[in-house]
Amino acid sequence: METSKRLEGIGEYYFSQKLREIDDLNKQGKNIINLGIGSPDQPPHPDVIKTLQEESAKPNVHAYQSYKGSPILRKGISEWYKGWYNVGLDPDSEILPLIGSKEGIMHICMTYLNKGNEVLVPNPGYPTYRSAVMLAGGKCKEYKLKEKNNYEPDFDALEKIVKRRKRAVSELVASPDGGGRVGAVKLMFVNYPQMPTGQLPSRELFKKLVAFGKENGILIIHDNPYSFILNENPMSLLSVEGARDCVIELNSLSKSHNMAGWRVGMLCGAKERIDEVLRFKSNMDSGMFLPVQLAAAKALTLGKEWHEEVNKVYKVRRDKVHELLDLLICKFSKEQAGLFVWAKIPAKYKTGYELSDDVLYNSNVFITPGGIFGDAGDKYVRVSLCAPLEKIEEAINRIKN
Ligand SMILES: Cc1ncc(COP(=O)(O)O)c(C=O)c1O
Repeated sequence: METSKRLEGIGEYYFSQKLREIDDLNKQGKNIINLGIGSPDQPPHPDVIKTLQEESAKPNVHAYQSYKGSPILRKGISEWYKGWYNVGLDPDSEILPLIGSKEGIMHICMTYLNKGNEVLVPNPGYPTYRSAVMLAGGKCKEYKLKEKNNYEPDFDALEKIVKRRKRAVSELVASPDGGGRVGAVKLMFVNYPQMPTGQLPSRELFKKLVAFGKENGILIIHDNPYSFILNENPMSLLSVEGARDCVIELNSLSKSHNMAGWRVGMLCGAKERIDEVLRFKSNMDSGMFLPVQLAAAKALTLGKEWHEEVNKVYKVRRDKVHELLDLLICKFSKEQAGLFVWAKIPAKYKTGYELSDDVLYNSNVFITPGGIFGDAGDKYVRVSLCAPLEKIEEAINRIKN
């Protein structure tokens, strides 16, 4: 059957393909150590599981749920944002629970993009931004994040792109297919702590992003799932004054609360933005299973001790991953946040793909080539911290041998 035009240029997600290859290698008895994917391997807090168990045993929790999510979860999210990020959000109108933040990326693109509208996406960056824009009919305009600029956007270059597009659009409005062939920049995806580079944001950067969005009429989408991982100071872009005028923030319990498989995320922003996205989302799915929402609300009440416990484990693993990367003669910053270490490959490899294949086929260890996050990542690899210490140690031994 011929697939739709909108799927042209969209391949199967890299990890979906690669995990199949790793499965095949495992079937041949290779027992691959997977240091690729960022899926937390530690369990959620026991109280979270207990809430799910108790709530799901009740007879009256199994019906369809509100499209806007349970008021208890929205209140929990509002208190969490206030407590950790010092951002006040109205639980009734400024929060939309999501089935994981990944779906929010698609909902936003479907809500705002017309054919030809352009979207600024980071390179390197989370591949889903690019595919969601393309699936929604938009066009990606990549902006490079460079190590020498602390992986921050070059705002002068961005201004030039935006002005050029505006000029082109105004020249084309008279032409019959003007709207279809060229579009103004409408959205910009940003993500700090940044994946895959682990770069933390500064308040200065956040202020610049909001100013840029306001000045150019661009909706800034801040994807913020890593703010609690190996970071003492979680920040929200919505904490910048006036941000609500031009920012939507996505957040998630996947990494911060070890709940990736539970699929709980959120979209926060001005009431108008929530209503707009809900127009699309409410046509796609229904509210999450109520016990999951109540357990998520429980998770959001966990305090500092929880995050310290989770991060204690990641810190020890990170030191080991540093050892592994030293062994591969890669260069990296020790200041990275998030679930990975991003590292520059030595000159003997042309790309991170080469190094990744070398380690996979010769040592039975999988690490992610940086190029899957955009060509600016070609000379890098990314190693996940989501594997037990013993596995990382074994990976080191295999590479040594
Ligand atoms: C940058 C980034 N955004 C979003 C997501 C998706 O997270 P969720 O589990 O909330 O859908 C991921 C997951 O790996 C990610 O790395």
